[in-house]
Amino acid sequence: MTTTLPHFEPFSPDAVAHPGGALAEGALALGSDGYTVLSYELATAVLRDGRFKNAALTLMEEFGITDGPVHEFRANSMLRAEGPRHLKLRMPLARFMGPATVENIRGVLREIIQDLAADLDPSAPVDFHGAVDQRLPARVYCHLAGAPAEDAPKVASLSERTLSLLNRDPSQTPTIISAYAELFAYLKALVASKRAQGLGEDMLSFLIGQHDAGKLTEDELFNEAAAMLEASSVNTTHQTGLVVWTLLSDREIWQRLVKDPSLIPDAVVEVLRLYPRPGIVSKIAGEDIELNGTVVPAGSDVHVAVWSANRDPARFENPSEFVLGRERNQPLTFSTGSHNCLGQGLARVEMEEVVAYLVKRFPNAVVHEDDTEIGQLGGRWLVQSLAVDLRP
Ligand code: HEM
Repeated sequence: MTTTLPHFEPFSPDAVAHPGGALAEGALALGSDGYTVLSYELATAVLRDGRFKNAALTLMEEFGITDGPVHEFRANSMLRAEGPRHLKLRMPLARFMGPATVENIRGVLREIIQDLAADLDPSAPVDFHGAVDQRLPARVYCHLAGAPAEDAPKVASLSERTLSLLNRDPSQTPTIISAYAELFAYLKALVASKRAQGLGEDMLSFLIGQHDAGKLTEDELFNEAAAMLEASSVNTTHQTGLVVWTLLSDREIWQRLVKDPSLIPDAVVEVLRLYPRPGIVSKIAGEDIELNGTVVPAGSDVHVAVWSANRDPARFENPSEFVLGRERNQPLTFSTGSHNCLGQGLARVEMEEVVAYLVKRFPNAVVHEDDTEIGQLGGRWLVQSLAVDLRP
């Protein structure tokens, strides 16, 4: 069956302004970068369909990384695995990411946020993003992995540089390769020092224990550890910036949160819907697959436009409005299906605690738009700076 698909370029600078436009013409579109899925329903179906594979390996190959340790890591990673192998890799980590575990971490989060915010000067606008959003997730990773807190700046930088692959800029290839080499070396040294000091209760010690018990190979141990480190920080950093920016900019919503902080979790989810850091989640069709009456050939790029799907009027009433307490508010920002984000519970509590800190400590804080830089690159939201006048 042949259908004529609307034309759509998901990575063009105005793509994010398209949620209604392309949807009006259809749920599936075609452009120079391949297919784009725009409706919530079709996006959900694609993300849940194991025949669509994560596109990061193909992207690497297009950037010239066709063999060597970085290619091998990605080819064998959890994101690419299916069935029993996927479960084998995901399950050991899932015990550290479940709802009860991440709830228990709130006390630690509060301490870290207070520590990071201790130097903020309330008498002048501060770059809240640089001071807190960029530093918190890596500190949390160090806590979870049992790494020294002093390693946090390195962890943040490694996460940002390795995952810059997804910015789709081929000139970054040398940076990406050297960042992975640094990441692998860092983890080798960390594992060696944990062995020397004796294993603890942390995530990395657990993985080492699984290896020593014969449940994970050496390659799997390092693959798991590397997957968690690269994912630990950069997305949470930018998404936290988007949360703080959106909530502080809407004074009516902000006042409601100040009056009733129990609304914070709902507010965070609504920002995840409206401003998803991963605006596009890219997949590759593993075989010929029929989508909405169109046969998508094996090997095609299929870009799931999360920022369109999250504003699909067929799924969300008044989709571009910020509505606190929406029913069935399940944005696709953390994907869905078997590869849904393993760290989503953790990322949520991190963002909730940052907002809770501001609501309690600086209820009169406002954003300085002139000194704030927020944009998009490669289908992702990017927060460069977020100037906040704390006004205690
Ligand atoms: C706001 C922050 C975050 C966002 C928006 C985000 C988004 C995503 C998305 C969209 C995927 C799925 C990709 C796909 O379907 O191909 C994913 C997977 C994953 N994420 Fe996150 N993530 C965030 C934070 C984290 C954190 C903090 C961690 C760990 C500490 C983490 C660990 C992972 C892992 C391990 C996977 C692979 C899951 C699998 O393949 O089974 N993420 N994330």
